[in-house]
Amino acid sequence: MKILVLHGPNLNLLGRREPAVYGAQTLDEINAQLGVLAAELGVDVAFVQSNHEGALIDALHAAQGAMQGVLINPGGLTHSSVSLRDALLAVNLPFVEVHLSNVYAREPFRHTSLLRDVAVGVVLGFGADSYGMGLRGLISHLRRRVGDAGPPAG
Ligand code: DQA
Repeated sequence: MKILVLHGPNLNLLGRREPAVYGAQTLDEINAQLGVLAAELGVDVAFVQSNHEGALIDALHAAQGAMQGVLINPGGLTHSSVSLRDALLAVNLPFVEVHLSNVYAREPFRHTSLLRDVAVGVVLGFGADSYGMGLRGLISHLRRRVGDAGPPAG
């Protein structure tokens, strides 16, 4: 099973960007931890970060047929991008939306997500842990769907 992990605009600056809101971990550190978790769970992960909406959409198009699900932190595009929503629907890949911060405790414009109603689920507010929780949830969902029990226990 292969999962695309997609990070949207400004997430390349994690570690330096508003650390009080987003934490001290860099994107590389978050990806490395997710890679370890993915290996434990017996799945492959591919990571893409872009500050460009079209590049994120291209990555989704390329994932169709090659990946089974998407873990996405769309950054600010969460609140504005009809095109990203359309791309996720077009490729018909189950996805989980994640956010480091609790967007509902922040400015009102962050309370809207154009993706959440078509997501498998949403995890937010747990800092970098949101990603790991989201990955676990996505994999459980996919395994329930295909009857794949995952790696052997022990
Ligand atoms: C974010 C929340 C968004 O509102 C913001 O634009 C981001 C990061 C988060 O992970 O908390 O870039 O998606």
